[in-house]
Amino acid sequence: MAASSVVCRLRYRGLRGLGRFWFGLEPQTQGRFTSTASAQKENTTAKAAKESKTFQAIQEERREQAERSVLISCPSKINEKKFLDYLSKHGTINKHFFYNSYGAYAVVEFSSRESIASLKESINIPAVEHEAAVPFKSRLLSFKWPGSQSSSHPMPKFKVQSPPSINEINQLLSEKDSIDEQLQCLTEALELTEENVSLRFLVCSLLRDITGAYFPECIIRPFGSTVNSFGKLGCDVDMILDLEGIYATSQKKGSGLSLEYQVKRGASERAVTQSILSVIGKCVDQFGPGCVGVQNILQARCPLVRFSHQPSGFQCDLTANNRVAMKSSELLFLYGQLDPRVRHLVFGVRCWARVHSITSSIPGAWITNFSLTVMVVFFLQQRNPPILPTLDRLKELAGPSDKCVIEGNDCTIVSDLSKITLQQNTDTLEKLLQEFFEFYGNFPFNKASINIRKGKEQTKPETTALYIQNPFETTLNISKNVNATQLERFVALCRESAWLLQQKEILNRSSDSPWGFAALLLPSVTSGAGVKSRRKRKLEPASSRIKNLLDSLKIKGGETVAKKGSANSSS
Ligand code: GTP
Ligand code: MG
Repeated sequence: MAASSVVCRLRYRGLRGLGRFWFGLEPQTQGRFTSTASAQKENTTAKAAKESKTFQAIQEERREQAERSVLISCPSKINEKKFLDYLSKHGTINKHFFYNSYGAYAVVEFSSRESIASLKESINIPAVEHEAAVPFKSRLLSFKWPGSQSSSHPMPKFKVQSPPSINEINQLLSEKDSIDEQLQCLTEALELTEENVSLRFLVCSLLRDITGAYFPECIIRPFGSTVNSFGKLGCDVDMILDLEGIYATSQKKGSGLSLEYQVKRGASERAVTQSILSVIGKCVDQFGPGCVGVQNILQARCPLVRFSHQPSGFQCDLTANNRVAMKSSELLFLYGQLDPRVRHLVFGVRCWARVHSITSSIPGAWITNFSLTVMVVFFLQQRNPPILPTLDRLKELAGPSDKCVIEGNDCTIVSDLSKITLQQNTDTLEKLLQEFFEFYGNFPFNKASINIRKGKEQTKPETTALYIQNPFETTLNISKNVNATQLERFVALCRESAWLLQQKEILNRSSDSPWGFAALLLPSVTSGAGVKSRRKRKLEPASSRIKNLLDSLKIKGGETVAKKGSANSSS
């Protein structure tokens, strides 16, 4: 029951830092969670989710808040009170926060949209010397403060928008008492904050002000790790230009008479998407305040416009006509909500993979975060009893309003989480982490594919190194890009980490050397040997190299981690 009420309250917070909230729980509730790694009671979710908001409802709420918000560049020694008093002349301010990103900024959310209109009426286009201004009235503003400011007033608190460095993470992990606590702490340290999610939605909303000039009914929706509950501070903002509202038919049947818009036609849907994105890319480049480094990547499988939004520091990828990806985000969000262990394990595995360069921010033959998350889901479906239901089960539980077919693909999943009954599984995070590594250290990648729809291995339909069936476009492989070398590195690292977790020395809490999960972030000794270990499918006995690692770990402690950290501190 305790777990049930916790899950319920977590869900009420929607997308915002779930783990962060969880760490703020009253001690007795928190204790229960940590001691059994958030063991799920039967029907936990059913009860908890009754009053929860659906994924769509959370997105809509965030989007609406963003439309009532402005982003303001301001002096770093700003007098917060005077600033708020000045803005309050235009209406009640619901929320605001400050952050730093090459200068100080404030996000201010008014309680009504009229305030934005009123504010805009009072703002001038700046007179620029020796140059000319594009007269585009956006909601990205500059706060001008005449004369020098006194610094006698209290400074506002600036909210952090970037992830902690690996050294800071190691420090945090060293203070915990178990691997379970370490993974929970890691999630809390890395996950998107409430403010960061608000800023992401605001950037989408600012972009929509540009695209809305062409397509007034369009919506820019964030997807991917911004909304799937697995986002880490510093991750990119994936966006969809959603034009569905334009296609929605408003004709009433009956009279037989009708009118149609005359439209330009393209050779294919892809060609139309490319043409729309190319115009928008140009517009963002030339008119979008704060948008720099715009690249039109229109020949990609999924055409996109990539740019940096300087005031927020976000790298943005704008796609169009990409509803399946949004559905994938909803699916991952749903899995992340069902059991707190899902997010903790995903954050742990993603962090481990990034530190060891299994994943990369540069596209290539690497395993992606999306694939890794699906691999964790698949592993949790294999537990006995399973921690997560199959995608087919989520489809069976769907109601009539959940029906969703996109480009011929049945993307139906239940939206009401209270319909999902979970089985009791009390595995600790430590056990799950250990067995995740053993599972993938021994997985028959040469012949089997990963399939979360069935929750079972399937025969691989093609010879690519790694085959993970796309959850909704079931003829596609989401890890087609991964080559044999990268897969071998992953397998070798899984084996090494599984082996390390079996060693008592690693599990002994120590104040002067990395232990538990932190020890898995130390430089690997076997990942370079992936090719060699290719044919050995069973866990090998401890190699002398790993023993040496353990020894050096005991001797050098944090020094080794610090060196590693400096090379891998960015996301
Ligand atoms: P980050 O690495 O934190 O950005 O994770 P992410 O989940 O946002 O991944 P990414 O930015 O690479 O992709 C954004 C979203 O696009 C994912 O969450 C998926 O929904 C979708 N996506 C990514 N890669 C694939 C793929 O290979 N196939 C399909 N169908 N969808 C993908
Ligand atoms: Mg992303």
